[in-house]
Amino acid sequence: MKKYLYLGITLSVLLSSCTQETKVEQVVYEGSAKEAIIDNLLSRRAIRKFTDQQVSQDQLDTIMKATIYAPSALNKQAWEIRFIQNPKIIAEINQRFLTFAQGKEFQGSAAKYREPGFSISHHAPTFVVIATEKGAAHARLDAGIALQNILLSSHALGLGTCPLGTIVPILNLPENADLLRLINIPEDYEVTINVALGYPAESPTAPVRYSDKVKVIR
Ligand SMILES: Cc1cc2nc3c(=O)[nH]c(=O)nc-3n(C[C@H](O)[C@H](O)[C@H](O)COP(=O)(O)O)c2cc1C
Repeated sequence: MKKYLYLGITLSVLLSSCTQETKVEQVVYEGSAKEAIIDNLLSRRAIRKFTDQQVSQDQLDTIMKATIYAPSALNKQAWEIRFIQNPKIIAEINQRFLTFAQGKEFQGSAAKYREPGFSISHHAPTFVVIATEKGAAHARLDAGIALQNILLSSHALGLGTCPLGTIVPILNLPENADLLRLINIPEDYEVTINVALGYPAESPTAPVRYSDKVKVIR
């Protein structure tokens, strides 16, 4: 079955005294393709349990392409993004969190940091760092869009993700600058968000959504 239609829309644009034709090509998804795309948006969940299976290079290539194609203000792409699969670096990131956390209280899953075997990145085999240029206008918003491309492309591949905001300020502490240097984040960049990535080992239901926060005004 044909999944989508290419609509070639020809617009006649009158410029000065001459007529110039502009061809507009637009992909219109129909039927099962349309449903799959919307379902991908709705069924993505934050995953906090992962198997040990590593994400393959093929899968990373797809996710990285989706990331690179995220829109950004003035197309500046003022981000530096790393997909870390080195277990020693991921363990060190987790250790830096534990060192910082001692004696402190946290909300969410980080509240359990005293439990044996705790991992701030939920034991995911791949840890993503999205850093943005310090002070660059809209860079953090751009990072959010790149984040969503990572979440949705991963989900489309059957992988699980969890955005990780808790560890962000800790990675930006001066005493952890060596870690950012290790993964080649330039000094004028700061971590904006992290992501746990791997094969899901749970299927959580969607937490409550506040539908009345989104309205149509006519
Ligand atoms: C910016 C941001 C930061 C987040 N930080 C964390 C985090 O540090 N740890 C965690 O387990 N989940 C974190 N989450 C996941 C949210 O808790 C989750 O997306 C939310 O509860 C909605 O659930 P859903 O993603 O399954 O729809 C974060 C999500 C976002 C968007």
